[in-house]
Amino acid sequence: MKVIAINGSPRPAGNTSIMLKTLFEVLTEEGIETELLQVGGTDIRGCKACYACIKSKNGHCSTTGDVFNDLFDKMVEADGIILASPTYFADITPELKALIDRSGFVSRANGGLFRHKAGAAVVALRRGGGIHAYDSINHLFGICQMFTVGSTYWNFGFGGREAGDVVNDTEGLDNMRDLGRSMAFLLRKLNNQ
Ligand SMILES: Cc1cc2nc3c(=O)[nH]c(=O)nc-3n(C[C@H](O)[C@H](O)[C@H](O)COP(=O)(O)O)c2cc1C
Repeated sequence: MKVIAINGSPRPAGNTSIMLKTLFEVLTEEGIETELLQVGGTDIRGCKACYACIKSKNGHCSTTGDVFNDLFDKMVEADGIILASPTYFADITPELKALIDRSGFVSRANGGLFRHKAGAAVVALRRGGGIHAYDSINHLFGICQMFTVGSTYWNFGFGGREAGDVVNDTEGLDNMRDLGRSMAFLLRKLNNQ
């Protein structure tokens, strides 16, 4: 079983990444393969609304030359998908939003490629607006017939402005560990293990 996490932060070693690595420690202990991928800070483009994916049904987006199709292939292969973002003006980063729009369309155009996978949103924030960012991610999972995984609190970590601040949020990191255990539990059930 494999879980991928896609980091929407343009800081690959920032607070969101620390939260994901904490969660991955538990998944590794549970015997689940993990891979951390980066969309934040890349040149990913938004959906062009060309609807070529609906016509071609070839499992890919017609926009090439950016990271999208490689990330999409990884999403389709994975049993669990974690989408993570810092909170930017009470929402997710534009790179993660581009991934959500395009992956939602391509997966649905091809008969529901995310159906019955496990999904979890992870959000880093400094002060406020995290719940809206969290909701933005969960909308994708809901419309794609995925099963969402929660924790003992919403899947947040409080960082300050500086990359690394989230290490001081012990409750937030414990929350990530619990999220890892719940994700592993769900994946075992889904795979009859
Ligand atoms: C453009 C921008 C907008 C931000 N907007 C918010 C916000 O609305 N609410 C908040 O709590 N933090 C906000 N922040 C702070 C980040 O969410 C916070 O520093 C987070 O820990 C960064 O995660 P990272 O290190 O993974 O990039 C903003 C930061 C930036 C750069």
